[in-house]
Amino acid sequence: MSAATGAYQKRFRDLAGLYADEAAFSAMRENWNDTVVYEVSEFRPNERSGDLIFGTTRMLPGKVGDEYFVTRGHIHRQSDRPEIYYGQKGSGLMLLESPEGEVRIVAIDARTVCYVPPYWIHRSVNIGGEELVMLFCYPADSGQDYDCIAKAGGMRVRIVDDGEGGWKQVDNSSWRKRDAATIAALYGLEKKEKSA
Ligand code: NI
Repeated sequence: MSAATGAYQKRFRDLAGLYADEAAFSAMRENWNDTVVYEVSEFRPNERSGDLIFGTTRMLPGKVGDEYFVTRGHIHRQSDRPEIYYGQKGSGLMLLESPEGEVRIVAIDARTVCYVPPYWIHRSVNIGGEELVMLFCYPADSGQDYDCIAKAGGMRVRIVDDGEGGWKQVDNSSWRKRDAATIAALYGLEKKEKSA
């Protein structure tokens, strides 16, 4: 992306703990450890409300065991901030989870747009055999909170190979339903009560 103000990369080793099949992950480290599995290039004019951050993300194809490659995933720190993704190349899914644990899955192929509404945790999944490239855009003051996924034992469902080269969702047995206080905090209600 020309005129980018920043970029970051995630290597295979950075994603330890994300996948169900830890033995498969360990076995893959020998060849994959330093490989950049996804990278983001962005234009971030500033972090003031009203402005926009946008950029591109590209993800390698692959699986750990039968589970397709994913991004770490997050909810926006200002959780009422939405996001738009636009597919440019490849075949992917946006895995969405509400604080209460409702799951929605949106297909992202080339020339399709995905809207991530306020308050939804989101993670990209590459279910294709080639790079998944997407444009994204979100309010400049959104921020990212990555802990909300780890604290719940991951996202509620995992996306795995259905045995025929397609995909299916399976329950993540490590996932724990969030308690009322955690849900309220993710909606930003805790802060409002304190400041009221
Ligand atoms: Ni986001």
